[in-house]
Amino acid sequence: MKILSVIGARPQFIKCAPLSRELRRSHEEILVHTGQHYDPDMSDVFFKELGIPEPDHNLGIGSATQGEQTGRMLMGIEKLLISEEPDMVLVYGDTNSTIAGSLAASKLHIPVAHVEAGLRSFDRTMPEEINRVVTDHISDIMFCPTETAVRNLGSEGITEGVHNVGDVMMDALQYNIKIAEERSTILEDLGISDRDFMVATVHRASNTDSIENLSSIVKAFCSSDAHIVFPVHPRTKKYLVQYGLWDTLCENVQVISPVGYLDMLKLMSNSRKILTDSGGVQKEAYMLGVPCITMRDNTEWVETVDDGWNVLVGSDRNMIMDAIDGFEGAGETGNVFGSGDACERICTLLEDFT
Ligand code: UD1
Ligand code: UDP
Repeated sequence: MKILSVIGARPQFIKCAPLSRELRRSHEEILVHTGQHYDPDMSDVFFKELGIPEPDHNLGIGSATQGEQTGRMLMGIEKLLISEEPDMVLVYGDTNSTIAGSLAASKLHIPVAHVEAGLRSFDRTMPEEINRVVTDHISDIMFCPTETAVRNLGSEGITEGVHNVGDVMMDALQYNIKIAEERSTILEDLGISDRDFMVATVHRASNTDSIENLSSIVKAFCSSDAHIVFPVHPRTKKYLVQYGLWDTLCENVQVISPVGYLDMLKLMSNSRKILTDSGGVQKEAYMLGVPCITMRDNTEWVETVDDGWNVLVGSDRNMIMDAIDGFEGAGETGNVFGSGDACERICTLLEDFT
């Protein structure tokens, strides 16, 4: 089968690495990079270190408003679909690249496969929630990472073509964790040691695009005694500078540029706690058994909270500080995200689909 995969943002490169490797054993893959993320440390680094094949097409869309970015992707992807004539389009997750890929394909009656289907935050103010809902409703085959995702689709009347295969991020983590432990020199480079630090990531629009929320997060970090390593997403850097918060970041907050996946895995697996608003990072914290403090009011990854390894604190300064001091993971983590064979299962199901 000729499969055209659409990727464009950091988490999609990480998800695509193990699946692309597996897909290419039995299918022809055309890889399309929309160019949504384009800085070397948001894109190139992942292709290089994870061995992702060079994209066949890069649309070079870059940054813009929601509508303009998605619209330009839609136009570019439609042209490629007409010239490449794939049998199926594969999309990942919930970004604007995801909705552009699925919408362009479904209008041309090309079957759509959605990896990481069925997730819901039930918060329609998130652009990602709109992207997920629309993509699931126009997809033909949905690869869910959890049982919760299967149930979410069921409650929207979507039951055909739905499969719980586990999470491809588990495959990515299992494949790379030993390599990261051996190869990454990030702890030495930053002068930090095992469990003496916490890692933080922030990029969710609800946190970055609000001066109140972003300054509350910065104040919480600065008021705590913890040493916090903070690889800053370009969106967040832009707003920290714009709001005049960049220079208020204190000494205990070690600000660094975004890091590659191997360095990120090494940082997370050796950290005492993780502070984040990222979807992927919440899951990885759980997979690694590191307590996670999520600076959001809701999460799609409810199992991590139910199992006692994740706590939702929003952007409230006091709640963040309390969790930095007091939140510890509880008991064993389960195998909520599967056992690392999601990519193999997806490929088997794709064979059956043909
Ligand atoms: C996007 C996804 C989000 C995902 C995140 C992963 C949407 C709606 N959002 O959010 O779901 O969690 O990627 O990281 O698709 N920028 C750069 N260089 C880059 C990329 C971005 O400077 O290489 C800056 C630009 O100022 C840009 C801003 O970051 O306007 C936001 O980028 P964008 O891709 O629109 O959204 P993200 O916040 O990255
Ligand atoms: N990540 C990374 N370097 C960083 C921050 C995150 O490699 O500096 C990885 C992280 O380990 C996870 C993925 O990026 O695998 C999550 O992407 P992001 O937080 O950008 O998006 P989300 O998952 O929220 O959509």
